[in-house]
Amino acid sequence: MSYKIPADKIAQVRETTDIVALISNYLTLKKSGKGYVGLCPFHTDSAPSFHVNPNNQLYYCFGCQKGGNVFNFLMEMEKMSFTEAVEFLAEKAGISLPKTKVDDRLEKEKEALYFVNRWAANLFYKNLISPHGKDALQYVQGRGINQEMIKTFGLGYSLNEWDGLIKQAQKDSVSQQVLFKSGLIIKKNGGGYYDRFRGRFMIPIVDLYKKVLGFGGRKLVDDDSPKYINSPETPIYQKGRILFGLYQSREAIKQQDQAIFVEGYTDLISLFQAGIKNVVATSGTALTPAQAKLIKRFTENVTLLYDADTSGSLAAMRGADIFLDAGLEVKIVTLPPGHDPDSYVRERGVDYFKQTLSRAKSIIQFKIDTLSKKLDTTSTQGKTQLVNATLESIVRIKDNIKQNLALKEVAEHFGLDERALLGQIHHIKNNGQYRAFTPEKIDSKKELHKVRQKSKYDIAEEDLVRLVLEDSGWLSLLMKHLELEDISDPEIRSLFSMMFNLAQSNEKVTRQMIFNEIIDPQVSALVAQLVTTRYGESLDRTKLIEDCLVLLKRRRLEIILSNLENEIKIAQDKELDASDYTRKYLVCKAEIKRIASKDFLRESVSDE
Ligand code: GTP
Ligand code: MN
Repeated sequence: MSYKIPADKIAQVRETTDIVALISNYLTLKKSGKGYVGLCPFHTDSAPSFHVNPNNQLYYCFGCQKGGNVFNFLMEMEKMSFTEAVEFLAEKAGISLPKTKVDDRLEKEKEALYFVNRWAANLFYKNLISPHGKDALQYVQGRGINQEMIKTFGLGYSLNEWDGLIKQAQKDSVSQQVLFKSGLIIKKNGGGYYDRFRGRFMIPIVDLYKKVLGFGGRKLVDDDSPKYINSPETPIYQKGRILFGLYQSREAIKQQDQAIFVEGYTDLISLFQAGIKNVVATSGTALTPAQAKLIKRFTENVTLLYDADTSGSLAAMRGADIFLDAGLEVKIVTLPPGHDPDSYVRERGVDYFKQTLSRAKSIIQFKIDTLSKKLDTTSTQGKTQLVNATLESIVRIKDNIKQNLALKEVAEHFGLDERALLGQIHHIKNNGQYRAFTPEKIDSKKELHKVRQKSKYDIAEEDLVRLVLEDSGWLSLLMKHLELEDISDPEIRSLFSMMFNLAQSNEKVTRQMIFNEIIDPQVSALVAQLVTTRYGESLDRTKLIEDCLVLLKRRRLEIILSNLENEIKIAQDKELDASDYTRKYLVCKAEIKRIASKDFLRESVSDE
């Protein structure tokens, strides 16, 4: 998100504004303890549930769960945009906002990042066709990728050295500072830098203007390093906002009015080479609403082409719902087990592949087929679960006629009355059981009104935030052990992502710095709510943080484990070889044990 107003000015405006005085313009506040209370202006409030805390400059209503800072208040109360709220309060406080100047600064920083990424892409490309790139070129050819694709995608090779890029940067007078910001080099603990990508097949990620945003780098040999290493997020590279290959594929997508989504870089390149050019890749991350919005500029018809395994079909179902929310038409194709689009098209050829594509299923059919294998559909309970799963997608379909057709499909399949299903749809909608995936959180009102039943996991996630807000010193421990994927709440996840970024670029992170970075009103509301509860002096913080980590890490592993269990069962039912799954299963089990013993907290972790 890029805001025209510089962050330090936003912070200054917020700090200068007296939240009690501001809110007192709208309601009567009475002193209570360290803060103030009043009747909430956002819902019909009988007891004063609305709390204002002048210390941290936040408000929070215990009745309707709305909360936030001075900007959120005006956004809610006066329906101002964020920028309008900042400008309004800045004027009141007599603070001038040097918009354009800072615009320039951010623009300059971005330009510098584009520049080094382009420079590096050229270098990698040259490496690949130089004598140093012999092995890499052999690898590329071994994968069946041809010369034309190397050019079209600007593929390359990073030298197998710790300072290949660094040395070349010195020769070319490329700023080390910018190189570091781009993530191409990493700071050593003892000082100095080293190359992030060493001895890897390099895939540049470009935007619609062909600017290089970052890279994916695949290892050439089967060692135990990660198969792919990616550039970190930077001001120019936000993973959830781009689609790999769109620059190359958008013409074909427009022409065919259809986009195929695959998971891997090489899947995309392989299909493209085979002549199926209307493809984009999510590069192994979960689909986001922003990506749905992006593709919608080119077509409203998408086909998800995912691996047939459980995580693949789960990803497909979740992805499909995101597309439905964006008002897109979505179909799903799965490939036979053990295949990905790359291997499949190379083995079966493009015509066969196109036939497979033409057998794409509707999301409804896909859910019925996939879940029927997992649920006991002879029982009422299993059948209900299955029907409800399909309704969760149907509820998202924007077009009324299409929605009705989908309902008919389900009714016929299960021999149910259509009107009963329609009733159930209304029920889901009215009870707010369905949470739309939208890029802008426009519907914050509905979101905040929704009272959630908190699970122990929700509480653990909140505890982690609260602990960091109390003492940001915990960040270093969390950066070592917590992965963003361990967190399921999107707001908390984005909060941690931001806090980790802060911690990476600052010696010390203060609570104020964290507050200053929060722009998303939902995140700010969440924080406002979290700081209303404090831990007692005597609480053992270390134990709490460790318990939370164990709980959240276990959750993720247990989901993986149960998916594997399913895969094994399915494989055994079909009398297929399940040994690969069994092996993964055992590894996962061992990992759970290690996590549960808290051993991982005592081990030192390497930097990469
Ligand atoms: P190949 O083995 O090169 O054919 O890759 P693939 O695309 O078939 O890989 P896979 O299906 O395992 O993963 C799909 C996508 O997930 C990749 O294109 C990457 O973007 C991402 N990915 C895979 N492995 C890793 C990894 O170890 N680390 C990270 N960060 N991403 C990965
Ligand atoms: Mn592959």
